[in-house]
Amino acid sequence: MKIIGTGSVHPKCSVSNEMLEKFLETTDEWITERTGIKERCVISSEKLEDLATEAANKALENAGLTAKDIDFIICSNVVNEYVTPALSCIIQGKLGATCPTVDINAACAGFIFALDMAEDKLQCKKAKNILIVCAEEPSRMVSWKNRSTCVLFGDGAGAAVVTEGDEMKAIRLTTSSLTDVLYYQRALEPTPYIDKEENYEPLVMRGREVFKHAVTSSCRDIRTLLNQTNLKPEDIKYYVLHQANRRIIDSIRNFLGVDEACVPHNVERYGNISSAALPALLDELNREGKLQKGDKLVFSAFGAGFTTGACIIEWAK
Ligand code: ACO
Repeated sequence: MKIIGTGSVHPKCSVSNEMLEKFLETTDEWITERTGIKERCVISSEKLEDLATEAANKALENAGLTAKDIDFIICSNVVNEYVTPALSCIIQGKLGATCPTVDINAACAGFIFALDMAEDKLQCKKAKNILIVCAEEPSRMVSWKNRSTCVLFGDGAGAAVVTEGDEMKAIRLTTSSLTDVLYYQRALEPTPYIDKEENYEPLVMRGREVFKHAVTSSCRDIRTLLNQTNLKPEDIKYYVLHQANRRIIDSIRNFLGVDEACVPHNVERYGNISSAALPALLDELNREGKLQKGDKLVFSAFGAGFTTGACIIEWAK
């Protein structure tokens, strides 16, 4: 498998920490020190499906392909306006594609789970060109009265087009059922027969536990893949890590002992945009001309579940 195109889109409404100070008991200083986040883009008048389609079109253009060339679409999404149909069905129509599609929910690790699924399809020769779209609006999962969670998230979409190739060097996925540290439940319709108690609340997160698990699992996954491929940390051009929190990114970098320049970040501008974070950051690096053919890249992400995914790829363009 190889990546041949990337795209990303962020909503137009940028919310600074100072704007949050106006309705939350918080400060720019607290948010910056604990998370590194200065602003985040959140959905206002846009629809997530439109952001996703725009990101997908940019990735297709970057790959030199059209929607008709795509044999399969994988959309990574945790929440959007629809429970059904899948977001990927809506995106397919808006793109003018005709291939089958599927949605996956591996939370913030969704991009790497999607890469893994795509590689399987390519290896089985069931598809030649696959579009991965990660589209997320976590701003609609949090209570905007809860300063512990709403300051952390932003919305956005990132996409990648992959095709046959030998550039996926190693990949590792894990799930460890740890469901009470980070979850969000949606209200279901009542029925005449429901006699159990049902409580729905906005996103619940035990921040410190998430923090520890994120750092430990990401370091474990990356070290495992480096060993597996006989690569040294310094052989990697960029560590493209999940953009949840600058302190998590810095801790992972310190544990791995890698140079600051090798760990790009944009969490300060976008907050945590869940599974869209990785393809959006990759797209930034790609469009800024920072990636050369043959560069080795590590991707690593963690999310609710707990899910983790990491891989090492060689840049092919
Ligand atoms: N402004 C001011 N004070 C705040 C804010 C805020 N925005 N949020 C919390 N506080 C207060 C708390 O109420 C608490 O006050 P108290 O001591 O009076 O009770 C105090 O700050 C300390 O709170 P902690 O939660 O202990 O703060 P901590 O240092 O752990 O930082 C944070 C919190 C930033 C959430 C941290 O735990 C973290 O980054 N965790 C990981 C979160 C994350 O990455 N989640 C998503 C990952 S998975 C995915 O992407 C889906």
